[in-house]
Amino acid sequence: MAKVHVMEHPLIRHKISYIRREDLGSKDFREMISEIAMLICYEATRDLKLQDVTIQTPICETVEKELAGKKLAVVPILRAGLGMVEGMLAMIPAAKVGHIGLYRDPDTLEPVEYYCKLPADCEERDVFVVDPMLATGGSSVAAIQMLKDKGVKNIRFLCIIAAPEGVERMKKAHPDVDIYIGALDKKLNEHGYIVPGLGDAGDRIFGTK
Ligand code: PRP
Ligand code: URA
Repeated sequence: MAKVHVMEHPLIRHKISYIRREDLGSKDFREMISEIAMLICYEATRDLKLQDVTIQTPICETVEKELAGKKLAVVPILRAGLGMVEGMLAMIPAAKVGHIGLYRDPDTLEPVEYYCKLPADCEERDVFVVDPMLATGGSSVAAIQMLKDKGVKNIRFLCIIAAPEGVERMKKAHPDVDIYIGALDKKLNEHGYIVPGLGDAGDRIFGTK
C-alpha cells in the first residue's frame, strides 16, 4: 500500500502558509516553491541507500558512508512542476531530468497529454515525479502511468499541496507509489481547485494571469 507522508516540518509549514497569500508576486512565489521542493526532497530521500567508502582525510584514513550511486531522475509535470526542479536538483544534483506535459481540460478536468521526453535509461532509475498541486489526481495518475508504461518501477510523487480526493485516487491507481505532501488541504471546490489552496500554481509561477 502507498505510504502517504504529510510534512510536519515547521519550515515547510511556514513557507506553504506564505505562498498561499493572494498578493505574493511571481518572483517570491517561484523562489519559495523552489525552497519548499528542496525541503520535501530532503524528507523524500531519507531512505536512499548508503555504502562504505574508504577516504583519506588530512589526518588519517577512514571508512565513511556515501550514497550507493543509485541512479535517480526528477520528472516534473509541465508546466507547474518545472517550479520544483531547481530545488530538487539542489539536493540530488546527479539526477537526470525528464518532462511530461499534461494540462487539465477546464471542462472535464481530465488530463490531456502534449509532451513526453524521458532519460533514455529511465526504467533503471528511481523517479521522483513532481507537481505542486495534487487536486483530482487526474494529472499525477496519468503521468505515473506513462512512466510505468515505459518500464519505470520505482516511483515517488512529491507535491506541495494536495486535496484528499486526489490522494485517494492516487492510492487506488498506484498503490506502489509513495506520496510526499507539503500540506494536506480540506477539499476541492466545484471547479476542481484545492480549498484553501493557492490558486493556479502554473499561473502564479509564470505570471500568466
Ligand atoms: C495543474 C497542476 C497539476 C494539475 C492538478 O496543472 O500543476 O498538474 O493542475 O490537477 P489534477 O490533480 O486535478 O489533475 P494545469 O493542468 O493547470 O496545467 P499547468 O501546470 O500547465 O498550469
Ligand atoms: N491546479 C492548480 O494549479 N491549482 C488547484 O487548486 C488545482 C489544480
